[in-house]
Amino acid sequence: MSNHVTFYLNGKAVSIENPAPDLLLIDYLRSPDVALAGPKKPCGEGGCGGCTVILSRWNEVKNEPEHRAINSCLRPVCALSGLVVTTVEGTGAVRKPDAKYLHHTLTTSRNAAPIGGHKSPVIHEAKTAVAAKRKSVRDAVRAKLAKQDTSTSLKLVDKVAKHPSEHSHEGMNPVAHRLAINNGSQCGYCSVGFVMNMSEFITNNPQATKKEIEEAFDGNLCRCTGYRSILTGMKTFASDWSGEDEKHRMKCLEDDVHSSQLPTGVAIPFPKEPRLTVEPVESQSDRHQWLTPSSLSELAQIMTAYSGEKFRLVHGNTSFGVYKTEYPDTKLFIDIRLIPELHEWDKVVDDQLIIGAGTTYNKFIDLLAVQMEFNQTTTLSALDFMARRTAGRIVRNAASLGGNTMLVLKHLAKHTGDPFPSDLFTVLVAIDAKITFLVLVSNGEFEHVTLTAGELVNEVLKDSDLADRIVLLSYALPLGRDRDVVLAQKVALREVNSHSIVNATTRLTFSEKCHVENAELVFSGIAPFPWHAHDTESAMQDEELTLDNIGMLLDILADEVRAQLRHWRERMEEVPNEGFTEEYRTQLAVAFFYKAIINALVARGAKVPANLQSSGEVKWGNWPVSNGTQHYSKQKFKAPVAQPYIKNTAMYQTSGQLHYTHELAVPPLTANGALVQSLRALANFRFVIPDSDTKGVSPSVLRKYLSEYASSFIDLITVENIKNGGINLQGMGLDQPLYANKMVSYVGQSIAMVLATTEQEAIRIAEHVTEHCVAYSAPEKPWTGKWSDPIIDLLDAIEKGSIFPDAPKAVPYVSHIWKITRPGSQFDWVLEKNPLDRTIPEPRNGTVGSAPCVIVESTQLNGGQAHFYMEPQGCIAIPTDE
Ligand SMILES: Cc1cc2nc3c(=O)[nH]c(=O)nc-3n(C[C@H](O)[C@H](O)[C@H](O)COP(=O)(O)OP(=O)(O)OC[C@H]3O[C@@H](n4cnc5c(N)ncnc54)[C@H](O)[C@@H]3O)c2cc1C
Ligand code: FES
Ligand code: FES
Repeated sequence: MSNHVTFYLNGKAVSIENPAPDLLLIDYLRSPDVALAGPKKPCGEGGCGGCTVILSRWNEVKNEPEHRAINSCLRPVCALSGLVVTTVEGTGAVRKPDAKYLHHTLTTSRNAAPIGGHKSPVIHEAKTAVAAKRKSVRDAVRAKLAKQDTSTSLKLVDKVAKHPSEHSHEGMNPVAHRLAINNGSQCGYCSVGFVMNMSEFITNNPQATKKEIEEAFDGNLCRCTGYRSILTGMKTFASDWSGEDEKHRMKCLEDDVHSSQLPTGVAIPFPKEPRLTVEPVESQSDRHQWLTPSSLSELAQIMTAYSGEKFRLVHGNTSFGVYKTEYPDTKLFIDIRLIPELHEWDKVVDDQLIIGAGTTYNKFIDLLAVQMEFNQTTTLSALDFMARRTAGRIVRNAASLGGNTMLVLKHLAKHTGDPFPSDLFTVLVAIDAKITFLVLVSNGEFEHVTLTAGELVNEVLKDSDLADRIVLLSYALPLGRDRDVVLAQKVALREVNSHSIVNATTRLTFSEKCHVENAELVFSGIAPFPWHAHDTESAMQDEELTLDNIGMLLDILADEVRAQLRHWRERMEEVPNEGFTEEYRTQLAVAFFYKAIINALVARGAKVPANLQSSGEVKWGNWPVSNGTQHYSKQKFKAPVAQPYIKNTAMYQTSGQLHYTHELAVPPLTANGALVQSLRALANFRFVIPDSDTKGVSPSVLRKYLSEYASSFIDLITVENIKNGGINLQGMGLDQPLYANKMVSYVGQSIAMVLATTEQEAIRIAEHVTEHCVAYSAPEKPWTGKWSDPIIDLLDAIEKGSIFPDAPKAVPYVSHIWKITRPGSQFDWVLEKNPLDRTIPEPRNGTVGSAPCVIVESTQLNGGQAHFYMEPQGCIAIPTDE
């Protein structure tokens, strides 16, 4: 093994000596040494796609490079050996004006365009070149169309004007260009993620349709532009993008600065050298170690040598996005990607698809597609449905099936963290898939075992340590039979890239038309493992399935789901509370079952009334490609204001060349800061040293503890260090302290700032202080009695009278914060009620807008909305003399 990691970044070789095992690619790319600003880190957990880069390797079989868009926030640098990393910077940059042509005159605020200044010759040259190229593209397209050749090519131009890109590209990444000219970037923080995902997707799928392109974005989030314009830009690359589509595309206005940008083909640099064998990596830091065995015997030796220690096998490492808190305590990471046995399957034997545990989800989806061409079984459809509904495409490019199964097995027992409601594993249990794995036994060798997915769960339930001693090798997936009707279903907070609240796979095996020979009803999200509804299964066995017995079956299921939820209440409380009640989970399970029955009856040719049939159909994914238009009026007299111009920064945003505050270069020796934030609302707080007297310690004692805790710690800034408490420009009344002083009033309030040598260390230490070094107690007067509990919602505020008064009637605006009205709305038919009065009035006759009606009134309460921002909040503070 080597303690160097050598990989290629945007075509150039990089070698890092002994990288920290917990160093993630995104943090490396954004570190001051590399200082790439293209890849962003909005969420750091695989959820937003903002950090997307392309990872390439040489495919020996196809004898060509293989490209995959991955989340760099989940990829350890130690797992990059011999691979090629391409960031947006490597795929074609924006033309920057040549300095010798820059001239400065008076500017307007819009786009800093000189008023009445001379046109820059560089723009003129570029415009002429663009016009010529556009003409040649148009001519080429016309010629192709004349020959009825509908194939498209991304390479719009063969040769473009000399471009000052840092790399060997001749022009701007065309995806970035299309995104910009379709006004697809507002703040631009998500844009590069979209661009990189699409750059890989369109390279691998040059004939993709509009629908396929739209589906490829299930792992990218935008929080401000809106998806209409982003998807329009992307869909212009589709093979079925028609003249009609182009006619209806909402075209934006471009000015000179845009016209001078020349898009070219997507280019992903792939140097010759990475075609050599990948070097296994070994590295070590103060807290972690990284080893890369290349064979099962090496793996057995390492697992034996470190038994009793906290080690973690690593494949795609995407579980970092789900179980982040498990990482700091891990002593040893064992990278198992290079072990051939995990990948060497992929064949059909005895009507079973055998695949390696190291197969990624997207590879699995491709393998299923091949099988589904010959075999239209519902088993394959169920596997395909759940695989596609797992995470988003970018995560699926790295996530392995084995890693997903292990997330279930590792979190079965109490206090092992949130139970994991895997989607695919529910199918594996329902279809009796077999899993072959190795168990490390006492003589330090591996023993081969094969069990069904359900049996494996039972073994780990009996002995939870087993989950730490096994290595999954392969799966044998039955391809399914005609007499099986299998249906997979899932409900999550979002349609895509979201974990199940409850999911289900039902497999009904029929002996005759509708006679049930066997029923497998498996649900996740009810118990900490995929749970069989045994009572309902028994009630179905050897019975005729009819519409008449649905009610009875649903009642049996509801009863046993409720009992199961009660049984696991304590364990399931460890699942993040997103406000789902047990009854909601019960109703989801019952609704899934109802759908499964109708689906099976229709599939078996039973008579089902037309108005019921649609309830058995699978709707997910079967929707038409989206479309949308925005309507606005242009006020010509205000030009250039109030016109649909693309902002100048758009091209820089989409090609990753805009530097946000967080990406500005900092002076040498700059310390990195991260905030310690309150976990409580309305409480007194004090600093404490973990596992010691909780009376409270001074900031200087805590500083001493922190310097021992982490060598990277520099200082702790509290209110005591800020003259007169400082000035905080946040908050409605500009009256909040910069750092809380003895008392916190809301969750998330800043208590202190940790300074450390690197950003990651500052965040890690601040999280440690937040979690372990702050203790809270009830507040003192005047926060006692009526005010002792924090106000956390509008109703609390109304109840306690903590509301802003209405503005006097005389003022020309409406200011009822808690009884929102809008000018022009008619509310005279609404009863004047105390907002806290929950009684529902009887229906009454009245008129609304002079129409006679029966008025039925009720109250609707909406909970808070979960939302996160893409852009991090950051600033550079440069101290000056007072
Ligand atoms: C944003 C996001 C969304 C997601 N959404 C979903 C979802 O909707 N539905 C769903 O089911 N899952 C979802 N997941 C989970 C995802 O499927 C898993 O993270 C992934 O499959 C794990 O595979 P990996 O190769 O990255 O495993 P790793 O992260 O490398 O490892 C995961 C665990 O498995 C162990 N392990 C890995 N391979 C083996 C092996 N061969 N033998 C023994 N142990 C092994 C590791 O030690 C570790 O404990 C999501 C994940 C993310 C990040
Ligand atoms: S930062 Fe990587 S997915 Fe959000
Ligand atoms: S432009 Fe997408 S998050 Fe702002």
